[in-house]
Amino acid sequence: MFRPAAQPSAQVIANAEQVVLSGKPSGLLADAKALTRAAWRLSPGRFTLQGIFLVFGGFIGGVSLLLLIPIINSVAKPDGKLEVPGVGSVSIGGIPLWALLTAFVLLTLIQGLIQRASAINSARFQPMLVDTLRHQAFVAVLDARWTFVLGRRKTDIIAIVTAGASRCGAALQQLLTGAVGIITALVTAAVAFWVAPGVTAIALVGVLILAGIQVATIRPSYRLGVEFSGQSRNLQAVMQDSLDSLRLVRAHHASAVWVEQLADAFTVTREVQVEQARRTSTISVFSSVALAAAAAALVQVSVWMHVPATSIVVILLLVARLARQVQGLVGTGAQLANSLPAVQELAELTTDARAAVEVPPNSGTRTGELSAAVDLPLIAFRDVTYTYPNSDNGVRGICFTVPRGDITVLVGPSGAGKSTTADLALGLLEPESGAIEIDGTALTAGDLPWWRSHVAYVPQETVLVPGSLRENLVWSVPGGATDAQCWEALDRAAADFARDLPDGLDTVLGDRGIRLSGGERQRVAIARALLRTPALLVLDEATSSLDDDAESAVIGLMTSLAPHVTVLMIAHRQSTIDAASYVVHFDDGRVLGTTTHAAPGPLRSAHDHADAAAAD
Ligand SMILES: Nc1ncnc2c1ncn2[C@@H]1O[C@H](COP(=O)(O)OP(=O)(O)OP(=O)(O)O)[C@@H](O)[C@H]1O
Ligand SMILES: [Mg+2]
Repeated sequence: MFRPAAQPSAQVIANAEQVVLSGKPSGLLADAKALTRAAWRLSPGRFTLQGIFLVFGGFIGGVSLLLLIPIINSVAKPDGKLEVPGVGSVSIGGIPLWALLTAFVLLTLIQGLIQRASAINSARFQPMLVDTLRHQAFVAVLDARWTFVLGRRKTDIIAIVTAGASRCGAALQQLLTGAVGIITALVTAAVAFWVAPGVTAIALVGVLILAGIQVATIRPSYRLGVEFSGQSRNLQAVMQDSLDSLRLVRAHHASAVWVEQLADAFTVTREVQVEQARRTSTISVFSSVALAAAAAALVQVSVWMHVPATSIVVILLLVARLARQVQGLVGTGAQLANSLPAVQELAELTTDARAAVEVPPNSGTRTGELSAAVDLPLIAFRDVTYTYPNSDNGVRGICFTVPRGDITVLVGPSGAGKSTTADLALGLLEPESGAIEIDGTALTAGDLPWWRSHVAYVPQETVLVPGSLRENLVWSVPGGATDAQCWEALDRAAADFARDLPDGLDTVLGDRGIRLSGGERQRVAIARALLRTPALLVLDEATSSLDDDAESAVIGLMTSLAPHVTVLMIAHRQSTIDAASYVVHFDDGRVLGTTTHAAPGPLRSAHDHADAAAAD
């Protein structure tokens, strides 16, 4: 008997050598082909095994049906003569009825065992495929360029990778069920044809009409499937957006707006499902009536043709079986057509994300430490231009340097291009023209893993993951950090509040734990950055929510980091700007110039602007 192997481990899935679902299939057949190819690529062994089970299961089903003929004959004419319609009277010798019945039971048992093995194989194979598709799509998204994520709704990605991948699994199951259905129907039709070619030919006309109805319904089901995908993505987006803005929703007493949007999304999704059910059940009514009419016609024709009563029973049995199989196929076909659009979406996401991979495989990567030459700037922006996709905004022709081991501050009005510049320095955005030099050499995509291993970043909006304070501190530290190192980083980031948390580093933060204030979150983010022991620390308005004491503590920390750490800060507050050795002034996507702390110089007016912003 079939003995399943051990559960496929996550490692097996992670190691699936090639991307199983690739390309951009469009349309029903292309989607079905892409899914079948994916299943084959993932495990040719399991796929073949499933195919063998299917063919045998279908074949034995047909043969056990064939046994019914001698059984019925034997019951009706216990003289040892088998009346085969179209052939005449055949002697079945001394095969007793009990032997025929035993053979029938045995065949049914074999068929059951094959179905069991097939179900177990499929129960292993289907989740393995779903998990692999998910894994490969998600890894591709995580490794894609920042602009790839910027241009997409995150809820769309989540919907495609979660619910969409599950629908791909369901589609595989339906594809296999459909294949069994077709094989069994063919075997049954062959048996029926052998038993009574003339009558079966009439029945086959009915079956072909049914098949025609099915083909006609598949395309609308596919279109409904496409609509369903869009609607379920929309539903997910509305729910996510409303939960993200929940604080504001409450404060503005605006939940009714979201409830209405949610109700609309529910209604549309439901309508799509009802439409699908309506179509499938209409076809079911038509096919039942058509089959009943065909059966009635068969009986009438058989009587006219003086077909013996036993043969009429057998023919009716065969036709009823065939009808049930064809009806099952209609349902499976509609479900399959409905699930297949998910294959297209997932294949497209995976393929596009992989095409946008940030660090191309086998691209040369710099290694080793950064230069220690003090006169060589750590970063040099050489006439860098970057424009956001589908927009005219960004930065234009910016030129400035970030000296090593010192504090450089970027200042300027809102929308001037400061955060864009920080993203460029981190390699998150790629210059459209010009170059960003690190240690005097232009930064390339292949250098990014090396460069990022030297960098720590505190973004404008601090994100904490649900989990303990320790988890929030160490997840981005290669090799982790000890508790003593965590406390040291928290102390240096002026996060005194951490000492008062009920469970220390084990205190759960975020959604289901203690919520931190904006300033407290910023200090956790600074501590997290320090734990990486970076050569460059980038802080995007990381002191904006701090009170005066905490801000001076953080500024003291930044000053103390020199000369080992180069600090690149974005700030509006004058006190932070005053701590910097170099101040780069931005306006309208351009660099106006750089002033040094010692010599504020001719760019005083831009400085005044920063004063004004700080005063706000
Ligand atoms: N994802 C984006 N897509 C399109 N345009 C963007 C995007 N992010 C920023 N921009 C635009 O690029 C310009 C520079 O934005 P940036 O975020 O760098 O400004 P900033 O100086 O950091 O402003 P602030 O002080 O308000 O944070 C702005 O005009 C902004 O509207
Ligand atoms: Mg900004």
